[in-house]
Amino acid sequence: MPLGSPEEQAQSNAEARWEKFDPTLYVQENYSRLLSVDETIISIVRAHFSDHFRDISEPLVHGIDVGAGANLYPALSMLPWCARITLLDRSKSNLDYLRQQIKGHDDGWEKFWRKLSLDDAYATVPGGPWARLREVAQIEQGDILNPVDRRLRWQVGTMFFVAESVSTSTREFHCAVEHFLEKLAPGAPFAAAFMEHSEGYRLGGTWFPACDVSQADIGASIRRFTDSVQTYRIGKPGEVRPGYTSIILACGFR
Ligand SMILES: C[S@@+](CC[C@H](N)C(=O)[O-])C[C@H]1O[C@@H](n2cnc3c(N)ncnc32)[C@H](O)[C@@H]1O
Repeated sequence: MPLGSPEEQAQSNAEARWEKFDPTLYVQENYSRLLSVDETIISIVRAHFSDHFRDISEPLVHGIDVGAGANLYPALSMLPWCARITLLDRSKSNLDYLRQQIKGHDDGWEKFWRKLSLDDAYATVPGGPWARLREVAQIEQGDILNPVDRRLRWQVGTMFFVAESVSTSTREFHCAVEHFLEKLAPGAPFAAAFMEHSEGYRLGGTWFPACDVSQADIGASIRRFTDSVQTYRIGKPGEVRPGYTSIILACGFR
């Protein structure tokens, strides 16, 4: 793969310019329209979580969305069952965006909720999703590569487009997967999304790194911690942006 400017070459998580991450532009480029790939992800994750929690009486649990960044739909996918959802991110600009959206969300997120609420568990959230999200969301600055309290365990978790996007390093990719899964209690359902063979991306004037991993690499990294996982190839190359081969979604149980 031809590499462009020096910043597009090897970049560790500490070197990447997270303080320059522009959440408004990121949302405009990635989530202003409901892509069919997001629709497919939502339908699989919706079924995965609602099938799991359907038979559990009073399932008010703690959830975590790792590297929440500027995407509300992973947190929304856990909403019906959570008394608390931790939205963890490293970037101050993304944390500011999340705080602002929790106070008063942009209409653009409604289309994602409408897809989730095709299932009754979502459609019947008391008070509706936005009041409930305000009640349960806890926004936290944190580093998935260096978690401070490794004893804490969550009962449901999501991590979307983070492990392969923290840096160009395969070691940091495996480390993000490891720490995400270590944050979950035994048996906890999880959903994690990845871009396969991503070349990284430019957001405004800033380059953000990615690590080149295949569906097999992703499955093997997760299977170090659980055999109870299924991976899906979703969408066509280039549907979200150029420079990756497929979206890989992994749904399983810790
Ligand atoms: C490609 S974005 C994905 C954002 C969002 N989850 C989504 O689905 O679109 C990667 C996110 O990971 C966050 N991130 C980068 N390094 C991190 C780290 N070490 N710990 C936690 N979050 C990190 C970034 O700030 C950014 O929000």
